[in-house]
Amino acid sequence: METDATTAVTPQSWGQIKDGARIEETRHGWSAGATELASRMTPLIILGSGPHAREMADIVAQINRHVPTWDLLGYLVPVSQSDQRGKSLIGDHCCLGTYDALDEFADARLAWSFGCLSPTFPRERVINLVSPSAFVASTAQLGTGCVIYPGCFVGHDAEIGDRLFALPGATINHDDVLGDDVTMASSATLAGQVTVGDGCYLGQSCTVRQELRIGPGAMIGMGAVVISDVSPKSVMVGNPARHLRDRDDGG
Ligand SMILES: CC(C)(COP(=O)(O)OP(=O)(O)OC[C@H]1O[C@@H](n2cnc3c(N)ncnc32)[C@H](O)[C@@H]1OP(=O)(O)O)[C@@H](O)C(=O)NCCC(=O)NCCS
Repeated sequence: METDATTAVTPQSWGQIKDGARIEETRHGWSAGATELASRMTPLIILGSGPHAREMADIVAQINRHVPTWDLLGYLVPVSQSDQRGKSLIGDHCCLGTYDALDEFADARLAWSFGCLSPTFPRERVINLVSPSAFVASTAQLGTGCVIYPGCFVGHDAEIGDRLFALPGATINHDDVLGDDVTMASSATLAGQVTVGDGCYLGQSCTVRQELRIGPGAMIGMGAVVISDVSPKSVMVGNPARHLRDRDDGG
């Protein structure tokens, strides 16, 4: 059977496999002894190796506890981190090599982690990784390569571009429109109908009032309360948020 994120193992077939195979649950998901099960799961590689990449392995395990879906092979890292090859990063999952080795794992799908460097990975292989404890409305649209941590909320008719990285408790309300490469730190909150441009960084626990526009590349400081539109590349802080400086290439 061809496996895919959507057609992989259903709860029903999982029950049948579970009866017929010895499956051990570990904190890293379903593992040793489940050869048959593993053959039905889709191979997955996480790109990057930082703390967020390791947390993503736990999100994969969370997903697998609900519906065994991903056979996590390990991590690939930028060439600059080639010394990590073979090192265990979390549990049984180790660094498989550098991005150059991507073709050796042609069947594997790919999950981006925050700060992972190359935007040149084949888009058709990149997945969205959504924690089962996040709420994503059925009418919301996600691009590709989004990572949505536990406790996030994505409301009705929200439109999200590629590579959203949403840390725990981030809230994207109804009708919000986000560009590509937006990062939302923990508990960052957008009220409804907000537009966020490409490459924006929304700091921890910031709040943005409804219907505002956040220009591309803007950075909203932690705890800021944004009550008016934000110009591109502006760094905003405080309550009410004020312009601190423009965002330079250094972030
Ligand atoms: C907004 C931010 C990028 C500014 O960083 P910076 O340019 O290095 O700013 P500085 O630390 O030099 O501070 C400059 C001034 O802004 C103030 N300031 C900085 N961040 C602030 C914030 N979040 N809220 C209120 N004031 C802030 C400082 O007190 C300082 O004020 P002063 O000039 O009156 O002394 C940073 O503070 C921030 O909030 N980053 C997001 C952090 C975050 O969400 N992390 C999550 C990790 S998962």
